[in-house]
Amino acid sequence: MSTQRGSGPRRVTVAELREMKRRGEKIAVLTAYDYLFARLVDGAGVDVVLVGDSLGQVVLGLDTTLPVTLDDMIHHARAVRRGVERALLVVDLPFLTYQISREDALRNAGRVLQQTGAQAVKLEGGSPEIADTVAALVRAGIPVMGHLGFTPQSVHVTGVRVQGKGEEAAERMMAEARRLEQAGAFSLVLELVPGPLAAAVTQSVSIPTIGIGAGIGCDGQVLVLQDMLGLNTGFNPRFLRRYAEVGQAVTAGVGEFVRTVKDGEYPAPEHTFE
Ligand code: KIV
Repeated sequence: MSTQRGSGPRRVTVAELREMKRRGEKIAVLTAYDYLFARLVDGAGVDVVLVGDSLGQVVLGLDTTLPVTLDDMIHHARAVRRGVERALLVVDLPFLTYQISREDALRNAGRVLQQTGAQAVKLEGGSPEIADTVAALVRAGIPVMGHLGFTPQSVHVTGVRVQGKGEEAAERMMAEARRLEQAGAFSLVLELVPGPLAAAVTQSVSIPTIGIGAGIGCDGQVLVLQDMLGLNTGFNPRFLRRYAEVGQAVTAGVGEFVRTVKDGEYPAPEHTFE
């Protein structure tokens, strides 16, 4: 029996993502950080909307995700929530909001769910300590998406590079994926992982993997919205496909506005009240 109430469309659940993996249906995930884009992304049919801590670079103009705070995430996730009717809404737990203690993790993840209306959180890493935290969150009723491979909150340790190269590193990632699955994570992001390894991880866990720079063998794909729309014009990693050139459209539209204002063409009589 569904426990969902209200007249809106049915929301995607974590159980449905697992079911999608089972029947081989790929999962489409995009980030969003505000109401208007969230509404467009949800309306276009993505399965999961992620309020990523990539918010730091994409929205706040920071160099890394590290300075992003829980309050930043909650502020943006509340706006996104208002725009998302169907997709599963997942919010990143930012740096140091879950690594220090299990109590912190529970309190902070609980705040995200209570104050934003999101259904799940995402956190980075696959160590035994992180897996224990994931298990504690899941026991408390908080669904968790894991994140392996390049984990941006560790950028100062790893640099930005493909992870899991070589036998030992690949075995470690495989073990981490299984550990997170055992801990109760409902899904795993695999970022900057060699395609064959991502495919092998995907085969060896029952939970869906969502790749970014991890090849075709994952159960789904995630991209940062502003990157795939061509808004973040200087960012061109090899894995990125641009599905639109919105940055160019914005520059052209704004340029035309400036020209028409300066030339006295705007507002025209039809834009003017009598
Ligand atoms: O913060 C983010 O946007 C992410 C995705 C790239 C997976 O973690």
